[in-house]
Amino acid sequence: MKRNFISELGEKIGERVLISGWIHTRRDHGKIVFMDVRDMTGMLQVVFIPGSRAYDKITDIRPEWVVSITGKINKRPEKMVNKDIATGNIEMEATEIEVLNEAKTPPFEIDKDTSGVDEELRLKYRYLDLRSERMVKNITVRHELIRFIREYLYKENFREIETPYLTKSTPEGAREYIVPARLYPGEFYVLPQSPQQFKQLLMVAGFERYFQIARCFRDEDQRGDRQPEFTQLDLEMSFVDQEQILNLIEKMMVKMVETITPENKIQSKPFPRITYKESIEKYGTDKPDLRKSKSDKKELSFVWIVDAPLFKYSKLEKKLVSSHHPFTMPKEEDLTKLDSKPEEVRAYAYDLVLNGFEIAGGSIRIHKRDIQDKIFDLLGVSEDEKLRRFGHMLEAFEYGAPPHGGIAPGIDRIAAILSHENVIREVMAFPKTGDARDAMMGAPSPVSERQLSDVHIKLAKEAEGKALKLSDTETND
Ligand code: AMO
Repeated sequence: MKRNFISELGEKIGERVLISGWIHTRRDHGKIVFMDVRDMTGMLQVVFIPGSRAYDKITDIRPEWVVSITGKINKRPEKMVNKDIATGNIEMEATEIEVLNEAKTPPFEIDKDTSGVDEELRLKYRYLDLRSERMVKNITVRHELIRFIREYLYKENFREIETPYLTKSTPEGAREYIVPARLYPGEFYVLPQSPQQFKQLLMVAGFERYFQIARCFRDEDQRGDRQPEFTQLDLEMSFVDQEQILNLIEKMMVKMVETITPENKIQSKPFPRITYKESIEKYGTDKPDLRKSKSDKKELSFVWIVDAPLFKYSKLEKKLVSSHHPFTMPKEEDLTKLDSKPEEVRAYAYDLVLNGFEIAGGSIRIHKRDIQDKIFDLLGVSEDEKLRRFGHMLEAFEYGAPPHGGIAPGIDRIAAILSHENVIREVMAFPKTGDARDAMMGAPSPVSERQLSDVHIKLAKEAEGKALKLSDTETND
């Protein structure tokens, strides 16, 4: 018999069907036993009545066991209808059951909201935490958002293109994760903080409209809205101005919210736009939360922050640094101030802020070598470093680079806010802990002396003795 998904059973009243899934709860009512059975599509009440073949096999069955059950789908009597679940008007009368696997008692209750459970424990047993209803919902909303974005952009003629994860440093202002290169002693790949340079080079290549659901890696201090690896909708377009990019993203956001999470309400459409300067003066931040009622999680207040300064002064480094990244185009009317008052130069740079969180950042880019050269000079990048780190970009600009610009919305932050979660970990299947560990896999972890020697690495004094002896670990050859 073919296995049915629980969500399909509303149309099978009176039929004998087979379902597979997990026992969610078990309730013994005198001789009759009720079990809620769960699969990826929903939950179904199954009744075991004395005398059936199934009934004789359920003595030991407990929550989280994996089963296949055959039985008849019946309409529930009117007063037994459960309006809270999609299958609340039906139930199955079991005739046969097969146990596919037993289960230990989970370390925390997963038939309830797990948000109150110790997070370390939830992350160690994430595969159990992900069985809980709220987590299923969050991960599903995230999936729906990504699917919406893809379909929206395909219709707008975007190409979805993957770019490398093993690459070279690209400046976004955070510390980078480095990967030793076995074949090149003393040399390293760097995991990208974003696909920034690749997407610009795809514009030089002539693709004109690129996007990618891209993983980005940044080794920075953790916060509720930050993870060491996170996902961006990375996007770039040629022959565009700022207005076109803002319009595209704004339309997509509105339609996405209204389609995927219609319970949320957007406070103002079109999204208000304020300059960076106004935002700082009026709200004391470049991420203002403009909601009327800050406690209403369903209220969405989007605001564009435009005209960000091109540079800011870093007291730590005692020099100018880029506010966004060094590929950002200065505003035409401010070009004359580049030498005299660089800190007053505004950029074609924009952030989208939602309920006080920066959910996207982007800019129009420099596409001419002389301006890019000039910006690197102002940033104090030496001639030598310029060529070593960015020679390929400068050269590419000399082969017919079109005017271009783009943006990168952070998928995790958007999914969290739309799901009314306070931290992005709640919308990521396998996030790191607040101190950047993977509690389930146990990463980071020592590797063997052999692996280290393969990649020409000797541990520093403070890490000495950490490497595993050869016999402790499998090698990969
Ligand atoms: P930016 O650095 O502003 O821009 O990043 C874009 C968006 O990515 C999200 N984000 C993060 N989300 C979770 N954890 C993090 N550690 C994290 N860091 C950033 C935010 C942010 O708005 N290359 C440029 C984009 C461009 O210019 O097109 C970039 O990466 O939502």
